[in-house]
Amino acid sequence: MMTTVLVTGASRGVGAELVRQYAAEGANVIACVRDAAATPGLDDVTGNVLILEMDTGEPLSIMAAAKEVGDQPIDVLINNAGAVGGNPAKQVLEDLDLVEWHRTLNVNTIGPVLVAKEFKANLAASGNGKLLNVTSQLAASTWPFGGMYIYSTTKAALSKASQLLALDWKEEPITVALMHPGWVRTDMGGPNADISAAESASGIRAVVAGLTKADSGKFYKWNGEIHPW
Ligand SMILES: NC(=O)c1ccc[n+]([C@@H]2O[C@H](COP(=O)([O-])OP(=O)(O)OC[C@H]3O[C@@H](n4cnc5c(N)ncnc54)[C@H](OP(=O)(O)O)[C@@H]3O)[C@@H](O)[C@H]2O)c1
Repeated sequence: MMTTVLVTGASRGVGAELVRQYAAEGANVIACVRDAAATPGLDDVTGNVLILEMDTGEPLSIMAAAKEVGDQPIDVLINNAGAVGGNPAKQVLEDLDLVEWHRTLNVNTIGPVLVAKEFKANLAASGNGKLLNVTSQLAASTWPFGGMYIYSTTKAALSKASQLLALDWKEEPITVALMHPGWVRTDMGGPNADISAAESASGIRAVVAGLTKADSGKFYKWNGEIHPW
């Protein structure tokens, strides 16, 4: 049977590359984007791809997208949409953009949890659903630098929420895992980052392919290594 994969934040960057690669391997892909009129990363993607609007900062938008998908099984759901939280210069104690912090909490933390909630039945219907939440190395206790309060805390909260989902869904046929995609050359990662979006996405796909229920709650790097919490 054909694998169905849903990716959020699919307009560009790692999300668009995940869509491209899953579609190329023959999967049925639901590419969720904030604005269907602005999807630069999807222009040349071919295959079985449905573009669906979903703003992960807006609960009603998440619910509307879930309604659109209906009860079809989803084998892999990648909560990839994420925001950096504005200018890093406004993420320091001396100059904190509080409005942006709240907005980013909606996008990076609450949104992915609501996506998990709304698509739980689809993942369960797969019989072997896999939910991958894209967090960051900045969310881990091992990150050695200060600052970046907005991005780091909203991603750390997503990491914690993922652990809770793994516990709450212990009896469900759904594996929940966390991913640090690497430092990736995208709009967010910038041109000097370590790896391309293609390398990140192909690593992520390999991790997803190998996930079993026993891995629920684990935090991975794109290269398959375990990321420390
Ligand atoms: N790049 C890195 O080095 C790096 C490192 C660690 C973790 N990450 C994480 O990896 C994921 C992908 O990052 P990336 O580098 O591909 O970032 P990116 O190039 O900046 O792309 C971000 C994606 O998220 C989408 N998005 C942002 N806010 C959204 C919202 N409210 N609703 C729906 N979609 C929204 C964007 O859509 P629009 O085009 O509509 O804005 C875009 O598709 C993110 O979660 C990021 O935090 C990235």
